[in-house]
This record gives sequence, structure tokens and C-alpha cells, in this order.
Amino acid sequence: MIRVLFVCLGNICRSPMAQFVFKQIVSEYGMSDNFEIDSAATESYNEMCHAGIYYGTRNLLNAKRIPFEEHYSRQIRKCDYEYYDYIIAMDNSNIRDIESIVGQDTKHKIFRLLDFTEQPRNIKDPWYTGNFEEAYQDIAEGCQAFLGFLNNSVTKNIRV
Ligand code: 4NP
Repeated sequence: MIRVLFVCLGNICRSPMAQFVFKQIVSEYGMSDNFEIDSAATESYNEMCHAGIYYGTRNLLNAKRIPFEEHYSRQIRKCDYEYYDYIIAMDNSNIRDIESIVGQDTKHKIFRLLDFTEQPRNIKDPWYTGNFEEAYQDIAEGCQAFLGFLNNSVTKNIRV
């Protein structure tokens, strides 16, 4: 079982989008049973408001026919660092914020999603840009690249 936690600032736009896009991709490859996939925030304000997935992300997922369940924002905790194998951030500031909560990444579990692609970059926050389609294109590219990275690591381990 590979445990993956996607993380963004608010956990209502980008990281739940990544959570359900990645779930859809692994299910298309028949690999759902191999994964536990969730998402979390670096900030706590949306958890305090019991905020669900933002309507921009909901509309996008519906438009792309990507199944999703209700998800309520929650802040990442120190114990998540032990539990999850991969903690995948949307941008550089997420990484700094995650490390301020969980401590230094001594086990090398924290990554930025688009660092798995040919063009490493941040995923712009659609909460501010209003561009959910752009976030989706980046997230879909990153999730495919991340799965490619995982498949390569598994193959390498089998060869060794
Ligand atoms: P996210 O976007 O980090 O992609 O979920 C945001 C959502 C909410 C807020 C900030 C960013 N907010 O300030 O409430």
C-alpha cells in the first residue's frame, strides 16, 4: 500500500483536486487497491470553518467527469509525516509551511507535484487566479508524472 497525502494552503481547491484526479488515474490503471490517497491544508482556518471542497473545484471535477466524495478541510499534523509515504505539495510555500508543522524532511517524503514533470514549477492557486482549468491541467500533468515516477521506483526495486 502506498499512502499519498496531497497538500495545499487551504485544502479546498488544489489538493482535493489532486486527490481525486490521482484517484481517477490510479483507478484507470486498475491500481486503486494499492493506494491510500487523501489531502490536507497547511492552514487551519478552513478546518475551523468546517469548509468543504470549493465550488470552483467541484465544478471542474464534475465537468471532467472525475468522481469525488465530500471532503472537509483539515490541517496536516505531525503524525501525518510518519503515516504517509509521499507528501505532495502544490507550491514552494506549501513545502516551507509543511516543514514548519512536521519538522525537517529527514525521510525525504515531501515533494512538489510539478517537480515530477519536465518543467518543475508551482501550481498557481485558483482561489486567487480564478483559473481552475489551468490548475487542473497542471495537476493532471503532475499526477501522471508522479505515477510514472512511482512505477519507475517499483521496477527499479524489483530489478535490485
Ligand atoms: P487552496 O486555495 O490552497 O488551493 O485550497 C485556497 C483556498 C482558500 C484559501 C486560500 C487558498 N483561503 O484563504 O481561505
